[in-house]
Amino acid sequence: MPHEPFDAVDVIGAKRDGRTLTPDQVDWVVDAYTRGVVAEEQMAALAMAVYLNGMDRHETSRWTAAMIASGERMDFSSLSRPTVDKHSTGGVGDKITLPLAPLVAACGLAVPQLSGRGLGHTGGTLDKLESIPGWRAALTNDEVLAQLESVGAVICQAGSGLAPADRRLYALRDVTGTVESIPLIASSIMSKKIAEGTGALVLDVKVGTGAFMKDLDRARELARTMVDLGTDAGVRTVALLTHMSTPLGLTAGNALEVRESVEVLAGGGPADVVDLTVALAREMLQAAGRPGTATTDPADVLADGRAMDTWRAMISAQGGDPDAPLPTARETEHVLAPADGVLVGLDALAVGVAAWRLGAGRARKEDPVQAGAGVELHARPGALVRAGQPIMTLHTDTPERFDRARQALADAVVIAPEGSRPPERPLVLERVAAD
Ligand code: URA
Repeated sequence: MPHEPFDAVDVIGAKRDGRTLTPDQVDWVVDAYTRGVVAEEQMAALAMAVYLNGMDRHETSRWTAAMIASGERMDFSSLSRPTVDKHSTGGVGDKITLPLAPLVAACGLAVPQLSGRGLGHTGGTLDKLESIPGWRAALTNDEVLAQLESVGAVICQAGSGLAPADRRLYALRDVTGTVESIPLIASSIMSKKIAEGTGALVLDVKVGTGAFMKDLDRARELARTMVDLGTDAGVRTVALLTHMSTPLGLTAGNALEVRESVEVLAGGGPADVVDLTVALAREMLQAAGRPGTATTDPADVLADGRAMDTWRAMISAQGGDPDAPLPTARETEHVLAPADGVLVGLDALAVGVAAWRLGAGRARKEDPVQAGAGVELHARPGALVRAGQPIMTLHTDTPERFDRARQALADAVVIAPEGSRPPERPLVLERVAAD
């Protein structure tokens, strides 16, 4: 056995007693965990101590660097265009990556969007794209580079070599009640994004019932921590705090969201999806040092079909058929408005859980998802509705799921007397940039 410079129990004790870990202690504990020298139960105790006592900016930065060092780093320096990526902390109906990546590529940048699958009530980008016949999520590093050069956008599965320490630690946090720690969430997300090798990064930090962060103060703190981590690592990073108390757009579910994204790329689609896509695209161009010009303003590139051309090229390059009909669920049922009036509330979490129960999401990472399952909305807050009018359609291949989905939606819809108005909430709440 090689001699170890620290003892796991001492490191755990230091954090348990509220002390700051030294850079050497952080490097060692993450590396020793990856090598199997620090046991799962020791890392679980340390994660709980971090959850309770936090980490300061230097510790969090060092922790992130140690997780990056546990694996490989991608290198995009040979590309002719600057790289920029977007990460969302996850929301219901959040299909923005689908139109955004080709849009930003059509504006002249390279977008390496290394993504994951959904777990729980928020959908995964790869699950959505896998509803397109033939589309392939797993690419080699050489394929990623070649597609970035030829098409400008890649959305694919993050390789297992990126930040492997995070992969293990995230699975451990998931079963030890230590996920909701700001330094651990921030270092987890940013270690993967920095290892991915992007030059600039725009973070979409969701706030509200359908998001990880339910209140604005915690979301702001998470955004600030991630922006600082990116900046310290030389990645130009900016965050938008965006509203997630009602679903984005009119669909939640894999193929349903692809259909809506294609509508946006065709110049239509719901206004909130279009507005957020354009807002994030403008931030990405600016972060990459290429702010839009008269010929590359994202709103125009989306409206005139150039982003759609890149979408088609991106899907085809990964084996997908952009013209193939998308799968649809075998069974549908309507949810009816319970009263006359104005729809003033439509809870994101409830819609996300319903879509998940219908088969759009998975409870365990090995579970399959149904491509056609999900929830389609026919009214958004502000709409005048009549009792008995369909306000949602539920889609699934397995009709025994309808009851549990309806249970999730029991309190999701709030209807107020005619003349009422839903609370005014801008989609983009705040912007957090480097100090
Ligand atoms: N997403 C991640 O990748 N890590 C976290 O800790 C939380 C969300």
